[in-house]
Amino acid sequence: MLQQQLLDDLVLATTAEQVETVRIKYLGRKGLITNFAKATDFSKLSADEKKDFGQKLNELKNFATEKLQEAADKISAAATATPHRLFDLTVPGSNRTSGAMHPISMVQMELEAIFEGMGFTVLDSLEADTEYSNFESLNIPADHPARDMQDTFWLTNGMVLRTHTSSNQVRALKRFGAPFRGIFPGRCFRYESIDPSHENTFFQCEGLMVGENISVAHLIGVMKTLLSEVFRRDVKVRLRPGFFPFVEPGFELDLSCPFCGGNGCPTCKGGGWIELIPCGLVHPKVLEHANIDSTKYSGFAFGLGLTRLAMMKYGIRDIRYFNSGDVRVLEQFPPVV
Ligand code: PHE
Repeated sequence: MLQQQLLDDLVLATTAEQVETVRIKYLGRKGLITNFAKATDFSKLSADEKKDFGQKLNELKNFATEKLQEAADKISAAATATPHRLFDLTVPGSNRTSGAMHPISMVQMELEAIFEGMGFTVLDSLEADTEYSNFESLNIPADHPARDMQDTFWLTNGMVLRTHTSSNQVRALKRFGAPFRGIFPGRCFRYESIDPSHENTFFQCEGLMVGENISVAHLIGVMKTLLSEVFRRDVKVRLRPGFFPFVEPGFELDLSCPFCGGNGCPTCKGGGWIELIPCGLVHPKVLEHANIDSTKYSGFAFGLGLTRLAMMKYGIRDIRYFNSGDVRVLEQFPPVV
């Protein structure tokens, strides 16, 4: 018993001081082995028993002394060992590979930081949502082509995989009321056949600002600030009319090509302008769905194609790379440190 206890204590003793503490615990003046001898009443033992006891006690002391010495030797040997025995400088190092951020995540994080700087809240939103959120609350009637079976993934429980991040507009407005300033980036789905410029799964970043007297001027101001920061240069934008049932008026916002300065290059297909952000002023019906007084409040909304932006920013020519899971694509981006 005592022997095993001693060995257990020695396993934990890693310094000379700790070995000494163990020695005192067992062999010191009031140590466990010493006390064991002292506590024995020799007068009750026969001559043979005394002899036997004395022998066992000696064996125990010797065992303890020997194991304590071994432990002390091991510690001093390790302390005096030359460093190269512990650490061989000549062994070739192993390369650690570290992961990289997905280009979409990088663009998303950059946009979030820019919008947060302009006082926008960043919200999470649902990928599978109700027909109401994705269509009805956005003034998209049942016969609108966006509801077509070819565009929308319907789930068997009647919900949809959202076709755009606009699905969170009314939910956000109901939750926070007016005035409101927020973005909701996220994954969207459309029933598309896949080719270099079409994916069934892609990312958008919705933006929504509602307040008193919000006008197209605010929309342009926010878009220009955003795009100048993303492309790190002053950009020109223009609005063309566009139709979306949940904005009135609706626009397509074009960006003067940041790569050629508007002179024409492959990215802008020679035209000098890039069609980038569908947007508009929030339709009064959308505000009403959120119980917001549309005579007092107005707002703008935009649906920025995050995937498109990442393709432009990093010169990725084929949209299929994003969901391919091909590490050779990711390896081209800076590792996360
Ligand atoms: N949700 C629209 C789409 O995906 C884009 C959009 C958003 C248009 C907000 C106007 C305002 O096509």
